[in-house]
Amino acid sequence: MISFAPLPTPLVPARMWERLEREHHAWIMFPDEHNEGTANSAAKALLSPVEINRYQRYRRAQDRLLFLVAHAGVRTALSHYGDISAKDWDFSTSPQGRPEIANKDAPPGLRFNLSHTAGMAVVLVHRDKDAGVDVERLHRVKDLTSMSKMVFSPEEQADFASCSQAEQPERFLRYWTLKEAYTKARGMGLKLPLQEFSFELGHSPEFFPPRISFAPGFPDSPQQWHFLTTKMSGTHFLAIATREKKQPPGAALFFRHPLNTGFL
Ligand SMILES: CC(C)(COP(=O)(O)OP(=O)(O)OC[C@H]1O[C@@H](n2cnc3c(N)ncnc32)[C@H](O)[C@@H]1OP(=O)(O)O)[C@@H](O)C(=O)NCCC(=O)NCCS
Repeated sequence: MISFAPLPTPLVPARMWERLEREHHAWIMFPDEHNEGTANSAAKALLSPVEINRYQRYRRAQDRLLFLVAHAGVRTALSHYGDISAKDWDFSTSPQGRPEIANKDAPPGLRFNLSHTAGMAVVLVHRDKDAGVDVERLHRVKDLTSMSKMVFSPEEQADFASCSQAEQPERFLRYWTLKEAYTKARGMGLKLPLQEFSFELGHSPEFFPPRISFAPGFPDSPQQWHFLTTKMSGTHFLAIATREKKQPPGAALFFRHPLNTGFL
C-alpha cells in the first residue's frame, strides 16, 4: 500500500517541474466524491470542445463523471508544472492513440499518462522518460483462467495457476495492470503481443519490484525498465512502468489530487 505525499505549499510550477528530474508523480482522484451537477459546469469551464463532445456522448451519469474528473484532472495536474492555465492545455495524439502535450510553451519534456476505472482515476506526470500507468478495480470476472490463457505469457500462466482460488483475482490484476502500464509506456496500448513479455512477481511484489523479460525476438530489452504494483483503497490495483536513463531511477510519489478538496 502506498501513502500519499503532502502537497508542496506553495505549489510553484517551476519547482514541481524541477522535481520531475528525479521523481514521477501520480495524481489520484476519486470520482465518487463529486456530483454531476457541479461537475457539469466545471466541464464547460475546463474541457476543450472535443472533450466536451466525448463527455456528452456517455449515457450513464457515472461514466460522464469519471470522464470529467479524469480529464479535468489531467489539465489541473499539468498546471502544477507549467504556467499554463488548466483550460489552455492542448493535446495531440500519436498514431497509436497516446495523448501528448502539444503546447509550444509547455516545459520541455513534460509528459503524462492517464488511466481511469470505476471509482478511481490517475494521472501520471513525468519528464523526458517513457512512462505508463494503469488502474483497475477488483471485480468479479467469471473465468479468470481462460482469460489468463489469452493474455498472459506461459510463465505468468503457470504462476497464476499455482495460486489458490482466493489469491487468483488479486494476482490476475497485478499482472494485468503491469502489462497495460508497460504497453502504455511504450505508447502502443494493446497492439503489443501480450504473451510475448512476462512479469516475475514473487511473493511480495509491493516490496520487491516486479521484473520484466521478453520472448526471443521481441523488440525490447529489460534494462532501464522499472515497475511498481500496489493495491489502493482495498479495491483497486495500480501499476506504473517507467523507462529511465538515470541511475538510480526516479521515485514514484502519490498525491491526492486537490480536485477532491472542493475544486469541482
Ligand atoms: C490504451 C489502452 C491500453 C486502454 O486501456 P484501458 O485499461 O481501457 O484504459 P485506461 O483508463 O488505463 O487508459 C485510457 C487512457 O490511456 C490513454 N491512451 C490511449 N491510447 C494510449 C496509448 N496508445 N498509449 C498510452 N496511453 C494511451 C488515454 O489518455 C486514455 O484515456 P481517454 O480515452 O479517456 O483519453 C487501449 O489500448 C485499449 O485498447 N484497451 C482495451 C482494454 C481492454 O481490452 N481491457 C480488458 C481488461 S481484462
